[in-house]
Amino acid sequence: MANQNKTDIGLIGLAVMGENLALNMESKGWHVSVYNRTVPGVEEGVVERFINGRAKGKNIEGFTDIKAFVESIALPRKIMMMVRAGKPVDELMEQLFPLLSPGDILIDGGNSNYEDTNRRVKLAESKGFLFVGSGVSGGEEGALNGASIMPGGSEKAWQEVKPILQSIAAKALDGSPCCEWVGPAGSGHFVKMIHNGIEYGDMQLIAEAYWVMKNLLDLNNEEMADVFEYWNEGKLRSYLIEITSNILRHKDKAGGYLIDKILDTAGQKGTGKWSVINAMELGMPLGLIATAVFERSLSAQKDLRHLASKQFPHSHIMPVYNKVEFVKEIFSALYASKLVSYAQGFAVLQRASDTFDWQLNLASIARMWRGGCIIRSIFLNDIAAAFEAANKPEHLLLAPYFQQEIKTLIPGWKNLVAEAMKEELPVPAFSSALNYFYSLTSADLPANLVQAQRDYFGAHTFERKDELRGQFFHENWTGHGGDTKSGTYNV
Ligand code: 6PG
Repeated sequence: MANQNKTDIGLIGLAVMGENLALNMESKGWHVSVYNRTVPGVEEGVVERFINGRAKGKNIEGFTDIKAFVESIALPRKIMMMVRAGKPVDELMEQLFPLLSPGDILIDGGNSNYEDTNRRVKLAESKGFLFVGSGVSGGEEGALNGASIMPGGSEKAWQEVKPILQSIAAKALDGSPCCEWVGPAGSGHFVKMIHNGIEYGDMQLIAEAYWVMKNLLDLNNEEMADVFEYWNEGKLRSYLIEITSNILRHKDKAGGYLIDKILDTAGQKGTGKWSVINAMELGMPLGLIATAVFERSLSAQKDLRHLASKQFPHSHIMPVYNKVEFVKEIFSALYASKLVSYAQGFAVLQRASDTFDWQLNLASIARMWRGGCIIRSIFLNDIAAAFEAANKPEHLLLAPYFQQEIKTLIPGWKNLVAEAMKEELPVPAFSSALNYFYSLTSADLPANLVQAQRDYFGAHTFERKDELRGQFFHENWTGHGGDTKSGTYNV
């Protein structure tokens, strides 16, 4: 291929996300090389099918030989890897290294673990290459028409990859691309991980709103779809609320509502779980998202739940509700809990930024999530505004705007949770968020007793209210214990 015909970017991995990203790049005027491995009997003819199918007549060059693929790309090469997270990324990198030139850029657009990306950035740079670990959110539709793209890693790569990545990113209502440089190392994948955790939380909250309307108000699918459609015109305007309305109206070929035929056992590919594990490693509460992850796990224990339901049948008083007022309370619970979930998620991002010295720009991250991604929603503008304020809030819920919002939502929120408990209807995320809020806003908590217990049985020491912070004491609680005290540390 003569140099002037070299392509602008290469993409490896023509699964759902990969082929749609390649088509998106081409539609924005880029000349694209694509490659997919051939595994006899497992993966064959993938490139040919794509080139002769969806890519026919487009400015996309297909390769089944990885060396020819690499040589087809103009220097400094930009190669986007869209392969399964984990070992496949490492194996592909080792295959590419001998074929690359100094300054070439590898971009990992999969849902990779940020610690793997930390390692890969160092490895690539040690060999004279650059590495970008980028979250890509928005599923198939986002990949084709505009995703939220969260790149991080070798900052020297940003000026080279920025034009292409911003061209294929979604655009917010103000026209700005939902793609900006996140930070060093694995920060881009860390942000995507928190995005996915928040996604889990949003999905659980919406599911609980649906479940309350269905079981306590006895609304039918069309009536619930109307409620979600109405909410989507206001402060809850978001992709997940919008698709929920569509899902509730959707009928299958047999003419029945598909939602009523879908088994209530949720799957999970792991990014939500990772967000909880990493929040715990950072010592940060991410209770709502943890609840959402565990609810997916509990939902998957269908047989056990069926057995338990026979032993503990739920009793319902089912009072006659004022449906309009009750729906307002469900809105309050949904919106307030969503605020709590995002506040928890952004607090973890801030802690990670401080811990790893990433200098994350939380306002920029909120802006990146306004379009293209699964959690795209109108209120991310308010979050960005809160983080851009001259006096940054200690906590998102303490930002003036969100303080006002929460104060109006509390009455409906707590009434809804109380009513659901009286009716023995599980609302784990609504209640987790409410209890987090009450703990967060309590100057005093019963942790003094926890400290006393720890010191009683393990001599783990405690601080005193009548002494300066940082001084630790041990009490000889039983009179015959020793004065030796355990070392003081917190994980
Ligand atoms: C996105 C989604 C996506 C996610 C899949 C599976 O941002 O486009 O978050 O990356 O991995 O939808 O998610 P779960 O199986 O974990 O629900």
